[in-house]
Amino acid sequence: MDPERSKNWNIASRAVHAGERPARPEFTPVVTPIYPGSAYLYEDIEVMDTALAGAEGRYVYTRYGNPTTSALEAAICELEGTRAAVAFSSGMSALHAAIMTSVTPGAAIVASQDLYGATSSMLSGFMREWGCIVETVDTLDLAAVAEAVARLEPALIICEVISNPLMRVSDIPAIVDIARTVRATVLVDATFSPLLYQPAADGVQLVVHSLTKYIGGHGDVTGGVVATTALRRQKLSEFAKMGGAILGPFESWLALRGFKTLPLRMRRQCDNAAIVAAALAQHPCISHVNYPGLPSHPSHATARKLFADRGYGGMISFDIRDGGREQAFAFLEALKLVVPATSLGDVYSLSLYPAMSSHRSLSADERAAIGIGEGLLRVSVGIEDPHDIIADIDQALHVATRSG
Ligand SMILES: Cc1ncc(COP(=O)(O)O)c(C=O)c1O
Repeated sequence: MDPERSKNWNIASRAVHAGERPARPEFTPVVTPIYPGSAYLYEDIEVMDTALAGAEGRYVYTRYGNPTTSALEAAICELEGTRAAVAFSSGMSALHAAIMTSVTPGAAIVASQDLYGATSSMLSGFMREWGCIVETVDTLDLAAVAEAVARLEPALIICEVISNPLMRVSDIPAIVDIARTVRATVLVDATFSPLLYQPAADGVQLVVHSLTKYIGGHGDVTGGVVATTALRRQKLSEFAKMGGAILGPFESWLALRGFKTLPLRMRRQCDNAAIVAAALAQHPCISHVNYPGLPSHPSHATARKLFADRGYGGMISFDIRDGGREQAFAFLEALKLVVPATSLGDVYSLSLYPAMSSHRSLSADERAAIGIGEGLLRVSVGIEDPHDIIADIDQALHVATRSG
């Protein structure tokens, strides 16, 4: 506030304006500040006019763009090697925006049968009601993908790099090749696999992350982002602006801070998960372990092709031997270090029961048909000491199976 301007104002006016709109600083903050303001000011109204017209790097209203959120979007471009990224208020709103900007009513969508539950529900519910033809396929069966794509000529193909909860890995480059035959857009949800693989380098146009998971990494932010081409950015930004599901500045800042340690965390989580998976594969109370880093996993070869030496992710699932709901509940209750909560990708290890959470809308028979047994548990391996994680799972398994 300019003291000359305000010197005759009443305290009621000075209280409102005091301390605000300081002169432009000569220093540069080392860390991007959180810009909470909903509106931005330009001394020159001509400049404000260009800002309202959408000039690059100018801000007028936070729903149209925010400097803290732009900083996060620039970081996501680094992560995915894309020209553009648009942040949203959750992983689901990012997926919604990516889907809605790629199809029109009547269009066909070919989707993986293994998608995250809410994504599947959005496709089979809202998108069908909206007039889209949605067909699900096993994206590991490339012949089935090619057949569905040739028959439906979809506008959009959707899959995940690593699926939940069986950790099946889709051959994304092969799916892009199939998509090219009908000029379909490919959307890949890479939430489980940041840094392991960059789908855009193989021609994927829309790469989605739930920032809530590995990128945020600390269980304290909900957000999503679409990394994309320069061409698609405009439409996605318009969708964010009109739909309004933008990521707030504080959440953007948290996700940006999380991103700084993503390479360190991801490396440690992959290393820990490999150690934990190897130990669980030998455990007498476990009949089967799903981890793409294990040579026994059906996706091991695809995972090696896609991830090279970057690791196989931090997600594991396993079946309690002869276990069901009772043993799974007992296991979750007995955990002391691993947190029994519905998320993943955090610094601390987490475990959940898919039959109770992500796949609860399916019947036990439907779950069995896609390989999800009633004794299947999922663990998101954190950055703790891997031997402490193994010891905790071991004691909880013994409690659950009453064998200890
Ligand atoms: C693979 C995947 N995609 C998307 C989402 C949705 O993310 P959010 O909860 O941030 O909306 C999740 C949430 O668990 C997920 O696991």
